[in-house]
Amino acid sequence: MLELATKVIDESKQGTALDSAINATSSKKFYIESYGCAMNFNDSEIVASILHESGYGATTDMYEASLVLVNTCSIREKAEQTIRHRLMHFKGLKKKKSNLLVGVLGCMAERLKDKLLEEEKLVDLVVGPDAYRTLPVLIAEAEGGQKSVNVLLSREETYADISPIRLDGNGVSSFVSIMRGCNNMCSFCVVPFTRGRERSRDAKSILQETKDLISQGYKEVTLLGQNVDSYRWEDDQGGESVTFANLLESVALLDNKLRVRFSTSHPKDITDDVLHVMAKYPNICKNIHLPIQSGSTSVLQRMNRTYTKEWYLHKVARILEILPGCGLSTDIISGFCGETDEDQQETLDVLKKCSFDFAYMYSYSERPGTLAARRYEDDIPEVIKSKRLSEIIEVQRENSRLSNLKDLGMTYEVLVEGPSKKNADEFCGRTDKNKMVVFPKMNCVKGDYVNVEIYECTSGTLLGKIVA
Ligand code: SAH
Ligand code: SF4
Ligand code: F3S
Repeated sequence: MLELATKVIDESKQGTALDSAINATSSKKFYIESYGCAMNFNDSEIVASILHESGYGATTDMYEASLVLVNTCSIREKAEQTIRHRLMHFKGLKKKKSNLLVGVLGCMAERLKDKLLEEEKLVDLVVGPDAYRTLPVLIAEAEGGQKSVNVLLSREETYADISPIRLDGNGVSSFVSIMRGCNNMCSFCVVPFTRGRERSRDAKSILQETKDLISQGYKEVTLLGQNVDSYRWEDDQGGESVTFANLLESVALLDNKLRVRFSTSHPKDITDDVLHVMAKYPNICKNIHLPIQSGSTSVLQRMNRTYTKEWYLHKVARILEILPGCGLSTDIISGFCGETDEDQQETLDVLKKCSFDFAYMYSYSERPGTLAARRYEDDIPEVIKSKRLSEIIEVQRENSRLSNLKDLGMTYEVLVEGPSKKNADEFCGRTDKNKMVVFPKMNCVKGDYVNVEIYECTSGTLLGKIVA
């Protein structure tokens, strides 16, 4: 998801949160770590807001906290393993600090429920993605010595009225959740089980949150959902329903200096209307993250993706017809159940044909309870999964190299995000197509739009200089 060709965050990466300025005087402090997709990171910001209201201050120093929260991801076995190690670490910390509470939030909380409390005795608090409003009550119970769990999923909860407290942000770009859950039931995927039914957030609250961000100086928003193209909101007065294309247009119209991105699109749902809105507004970034998962129609069928290889290629052609030069990125899974060498060739073929600018590539990891786990044998040996993944990575590396080579000598408008990691005299920022560019600072400041001429590239970054 949202690995957003926009800003998707790899599940394996850990993010520490928090703005120590928030409620700095509060005696009760919480520390939060987030894993998984951008929606999870955004949820941590909602949690921060809920805790702030109940008198908790944030800290980036876990040793200072009386409450440690881990917002977790279940998408692959490896993501869960990483988090378990982290929970073991916090269990150790509890031994040294007797009043410390440790809570698990997010998708692992939903998937494992009270197992984390009862069998593994790792934590004091287990709270699923739709139950964050009950956190203050659950924390109070846990402080009283009870083990607290709330993993109820909701058909309505969108946290529409909660203003997220931006954590770890650069003050320039931000996520805005527009929906929760997923109804798609791709057979490999745990998300429908951990996040529940799909529901769209009140369009008015999305526009208000975006306006607030603009007034705080933000220059870019990414609209988030597992499947943004199925966004639909009907107000309670029975007015016209708002589609994703309508919403995207309304957000773009708020300020022509605000860059608008979105993620993730399901190939079956992205409409011509969305593409035409993208074409109409220069401030909507011309970049689409369109996960294909596999290039083989029979694998796609077992994955329950509801499109064929040809249908996907046709969709890409349509995108490029309406949005010539549009950036494209994707997600791929290697070694799904029953995948043959011929299927793998189909995937490599699609990768070459679509020349994605970027791809997130994974080995299939069976998730308990999913359709695939119940219906198909996880029959591809790990060595074959890895070998196929390496082949996929190799083809994609060449795609990315060629895509970056095309940028040499070009001048792009770049939104300055902040200092580059490696050199304090340089800034970094992104192009419309979400490519990271590093360039000498000159006189610009964070949040400026500058024109940067590209003269060199590495595998993941473009190097350039500011031109008039
Ligand atoms: N809603 C988004 C995807 C969310 S999960 C979408 O439909 O595109 C992000 C990515 O993780 C998926 O696109 C898929 O490539 C990968 N993924 C999901 N389940 C997986 C599994 N069981 N094993 C390996 N990769 C998986
Ligand atoms: Fe998972 Fe498919 Fe929903 Fe994406 S669209 S979250 S891959 S079920
Ligand atoms: Fe996101 Fe991971 Fe949950 S990808 S929705 S945090 S399983």
